[in-house]
Amino acid sequence: MDTSEKTIENLLSQMTLKEKIGQLNQAGSTMTCTLPGFEADIDGWVTQMLEGRLSQEEFGRRIAMCEENLREDEIASGSLGNFVNLYDDEKVAAVQKIACEESRMHIPLFIGVDVMRGYRTVFPTPLALSCSWDLQAVRESTAVAKREAYVSGVNWTFGPMLDIARDARWGRIVESPGEDPYLASEIGKVQVETFQEEEADGCRLMATAKHFLAYGAASGGQDYNTVEISRHTLYDVYLPPFQAAIDAGAGAVMSAFHDLEGTPCTMSRWLLTDLLRKQMGFDGFVVSDAEAVKQCVVHGTAADERDAAKKCLLAGGDMDMSSLDYVRYLEELVESGEVSEKDIDRAAGRVLKKKLEFGLFDRGYQYDPEKIQKTVLCSEHRRISLEVGKKSAVLLKNNGVLPIGKEAKKILIIGELADDKDAHMGPWSFTGVKEAQVTILQGMKDCAPEETEIIYARGFGVNDDRSGFEEALSLAREADFVIAVAGETAFMSGEAASRADLHLVGAQEEFLEKLSETGVPAAVVLINGRPLAIGSLQENDGIGAILEAWHLGTEMGHAVAQILYGDYNPSGRLSVTFANEGGQEPMYYNHPNTGKPGGSFKFTSKYQDVPIRPLYPFGYGLSYTGFEYSDLEVENPVLKKDQTLKVKVVVKNIGERSGEETVQLYIRDITASLVRPVKELKRFAKIRLEAGEMGRVEFSLPCSEMGFHDSDGTFVVEPGKFMVYVGGSSEQTLDAEYELV
Ligand code: NOJ
Repeated sequence: MDTSEKTIENLLSQMTLKEKIGQLNQAGSTMTCTLPGFEADIDGWVTQMLEGRLSQEEFGRRIAMCEENLREDEIASGSLGNFVNLYDDEKVAAVQKIACEESRMHIPLFIGVDVMRGYRTVFPTPLALSCSWDLQAVRESTAVAKREAYVSGVNWTFGPMLDIARDARWGRIVESPGEDPYLASEIGKVQVETFQEEEADGCRLMATAKHFLAYGAASGGQDYNTVEISRHTLYDVYLPPFQAAIDAGAGAVMSAFHDLEGTPCTMSRWLLTDLLRKQMGFDGFVVSDAEAVKQCVVHGTAADERDAAKKCLLAGGDMDMSSLDYVRYLEELVESGEVSEKDIDRAAGRVLKKKLEFGLFDRGYQYDPEKIQKTVLCSEHRRISLEVGKKSAVLLKNNGVLPIGKEAKKILIIGELADDKDAHMGPWSFTGVKEAQVTILQGMKDCAPEETEIIYARGFGVNDDRSGFEEALSLAREADFVIAVAGETAFMSGEAASRADLHLVGAQEEFLEKLSETGVPAAVVLINGRPLAIGSLQENDGIGAILEAWHLGTEMGHAVAQILYGDYNPSGRLSVTFANEGGQEPMYYNHPNTGKPGGSFKFTSKYQDVPIRPLYPFGYGLSYTGFEYSDLEVENPVLKKDQTLKVKVVVKNIGERSGEETVQLYIRDITASLVRPVKELKRFAKIRLEAGEMGRVEFSLPCSEMGFHDSDGTFVVEPGKFMVYVGGSSEQTLDAEYELV
């Protein structure tokens, strides 16, 4: 469809001020509670339930008595142009029908949903997916998410989330593509391209790069907290994934909740206009995070909500998500002359342009329940979820107990989480289908050979209850193999779920210690959203293996079972560092060097009470086979700024089965005008090798990618000595020197 300025001007010229402001307004449905004496306070009830003050039954009773108001009148009058997180197919269709058929201008609604990890078919969490280091897996899972959401009437996703996360205390690390700017940029680019690429039948979603900017640097890992970082770190670390998303054409950017350099991102003109549009070349529209416009009053940078609406719009915030402040105050702000109608036209024009570009007008209102049913959760989508799930798990430890041998005839599964569908689904899976979720217990039953007996004992939960210990331990003594499932519940990571202590909560460690004393071969499978402080499990010889299974999606149980049985050889590599203790956070591999790097000498940078090295480094992950690196060769060790570094390495599968290795290339700038990271990932490649097979991997890295930003945001590539490292993790590498002249 024609998206020229003329078309947009023409559209705007037919609209009233109120209708234009409606395009800048995004809201969700509201609830009224028909239960006498109760106001619908869903957020409050959820909090009470999580704190144990409200039973699940009572919560369910109240919810059942709540009626949803879809704001039909607001849509019909043109004062509501976009919906947020409506994902009931019939309701989505109902609101779109009103917009397209009953509103005066017939402008379709943007229906924006957090399609973060699939839609009805759930995929691994973004953090887990980034551990696959597999861009094809990213593409395939994103394509399924797009298709399922699109047929269901959604046309806009609040993703990808591109916040670099270096602090495991931050609950939203689970939504992030990890700690590395390069890996995150590669993933973000593929996600934006895939979401937005139009298929033959018009299927596409508009993507949102969020949360702009540096939300992952929340002080102390505490959600929504203030962010204090230097400009060059902002540019070098936090900005690249957003630049990649913008270059890939992301239609929207979501501003973040927190304040950066003292200004809430939602009302920062420097961020939303100077940096985002003028420097980074963004031409879509900016949506605030939920109620973030209003929150400027709480931040103390706006006198009231009217002032907040004015400041956010003028800063470059085009759409207000959920505050309703734009729709309440912009009209009177125009009347008083504090905001000009031109400002409104500019923002509304940006929104309308994307509605035209993403085919909303062509599609109009459509509802095909049969097609939805045929598409969502179909066997092909589940198959892809299983494949991607297997690629995302990371084997952290294995002293030979895995894969489970065929001789294990009696396998005991222990742990409340092993059969907890909510925990398996994990955060940001609210559009998913719980009934379809395969748990590890179920997966093991489905995958076990016929003659194997799978038994289950609760044993321990994510709490202090020790009442199941004895029964589980005595069953363990009679089993051939034990799988203990430990970790976090769904609500322990995600938004507003930061943790100061990264150990397994409750009596989990205590139970696992007792289990290890039985001497029965045992593996721990972790379901969790963040790196945990699991040094005690790593050190304990009685725990034979640890599989980091994160939240792998709908087919999680089958994915885990296939890995445990060796039907799939684990290939995931960590996209985040595992610290020994939470007190070491933020701990990340690409840290700047100090003048006194950690070492055995006392006066060096380290903690007295934990190892200097991380528990598991970035890029780490085991396989059922092994890989050996040799013959690192730099073809052109002296090169000019406009040239490209060429590096070759030989990788050999030295084990007895075929496997996939992720070959990683890092560089280090040895002498620079600013302190540079001790290592920076610049390239990676996946290679599958049969037992005994040898392969050669070649990398090309233009010198233009070896620079960094100075404090003004100017990108510089400086001559001097560099190191290149190639290997199977950030800590196991071969190295060579080269020089830029
Ligand atoms: C708040 C979250 O920060 C954001 O990521 C999400 O897209 C919106 N809520 C809508 O659910």
